[in-house]
Amino acid sequence: MKHMHHESESEAHRIFRESAGHGPRGLVPQTVNPDEETVPGIQHPGSTGVIYCSDRAMANGFNYASSHEWSNLGQGAPEAGPIPDAPERPTTISVSVDSLEYAPTTGVKELREAVANLYNYTYRQGKESQYTFENVCIVPGGRAGLSRVAAVIGDVYTSYQVPDYTAYDQVLSAFRRLVPVPTTLDEEDSYHLNIEQTRKDIRSQGLQVIIASNPRNPTGQVIRDQELKDLVGLARETSTTLILDEFYSWYIYPEQSAQNAKDEDYGRSVSSADFINDVNQDPIVIVDGLTKNWRLPGWRICWVVGPKNLVTALSQSGSFLDGGANHPLQIAAVPLLDPERVKREKLSLQKHFHKKRDHVLGRLQAMNLKVRVPPRATFYVWLDLESLPAPINNGLTFFEELLKEKTIVIPGIFFDINPSHRRNLFNSPCHHFVRLSFGPPLADLDKGLDAIERVLHKARGEGRRHFGHGYKKSIDSPTALATFV
Ligand SMILES: Cc1ncc(COP(=O)(O)O)c(C=O)c1O
Repeated sequence: MKHMHHESESEAHRIFRESAGHGPRGLVPQTVNPDEETVPGIQHPGSTGVIYCSDRAMANGFNYASSHEWSNLGQGAPEAGPIPDAPERPTTISVSVDSLEYAPTTGVKELREAVANLYNYTYRQGKESQYTFENVCIVPGGRAGLSRVAAVIGDVYTSYQVPDYTAYDQVLSAFRRLVPVPTTLDEEDSYHLNIEQTRKDIRSQGLQVIIASNPRNPTGQVIRDQELKDLVGLARETSTTLILDEFYSWYIYPEQSAQNAKDEDYGRSVSSADFINDVNQDPIVIVDGLTKNWRLPGWRICWVVGPKNLVTALSQSGSFLDGGANHPLQIAAVPLLDPERVKREKLSLQKHFHKKRDHVLGRLQAMNLKVRVPPRATFYVWLDLESLPAPINNGLTFFEELLKEKTIVIPGIFFDINPSHRRNLFNSPCHHFVRLSFGPPLADLDKGLDAIERVLHKARGEGRRHFGHGYKKSIDSPTALATFV
């Protein structure tokens, strides 16, 4: 198989370009794609991995009826069913007549109090400044929380890093007052946010807001302990608002392997709330919720925690953006935040996901797929394919080949800054990567890993001429499946 250098030589990349919103931009002369602009004034914002990957999976026969035959390692969601030693999963909720009314746009007071108490209990024992319900805004999901926050950022430079959670790029550009400033994290630094460099950037670029996920999707790295303390300190000293998306705050794993770890190595979680001095003065905004840590992505109950004055602003943006979170589920969420219950959830989750992490890394290693920067947190593996034979040494082609084997992963380019704007997708720093999720149950992970094994086998030997082309056409107007985040 000859080496490809430009996206025009790759069928997987041509399919990506043909999909609405993914055509190259910034080329001269500017053209309007008539397929994209059939509704006057409507332009496709370009899908994140969400719609594109579900569209491509459906073109390869994925649908709800057949989904059990597939392994979805693209899914950014943890398994929602029972796991060993965890408290019972909630399966019923009661709906009082009062809860048929609108809830306040900041959320039900009882739940706001429960969130404040949980943060005080977990991270702020013995500290003078404590959170109250006025520091908490309940929001209908993490992305709604991020949108509410982005909507109240003024005309300022707002920094985010790449690779990070794909929605930041689009959420930030949807709110046109702020100016998004992306910076790149390098593999050589293990995708670490360099705090001294950030200090310089704040000064030289005039940054006023920084957003980052911590632990970080998709690289699985985490800023914690002294370093997190320094980052919070930097925000305080330089009056820079730091928005930390802490959705994976429980998904942190001990240094030693799951086999060697002891009970006492589990049970911690990571949050900037640990290092805040004054909850109303320090410019730290925390976003978290039931989606990942409680393994309840379908509930759409999340929160933003920050200074009181931020919460009043979020109430205002929520009143035109989303109107608030589901009322009965907010009430049902209150007992789930009980600190004793949370302790049990955290322990069971960390042990279970640590085992899955080790299992996936072990199998990848056995296939000679070395993960150079293994995840220390989250449930993602940021897998570098560069050492594989062409053409499966790029994320988009690897993704297409795996679809033929009924397995879904997310091509790395979706974690790049605005991939559609690139003239040659092969130049993207995320070109050689895919993100694998070990969120699903172990049996599903094995199904997907078996598929990877088959693809590698084909690529290294027989059947290689069937590679890199022959992909199914996308189905028109696909209904996005809600399973990719
Ligand atoms: C870092 C991060 N933040 C937020 C979210 C989204 O949360 P939600 O599904 O509640 O909108 C995700 C989901 O993948 C995520 O990875």
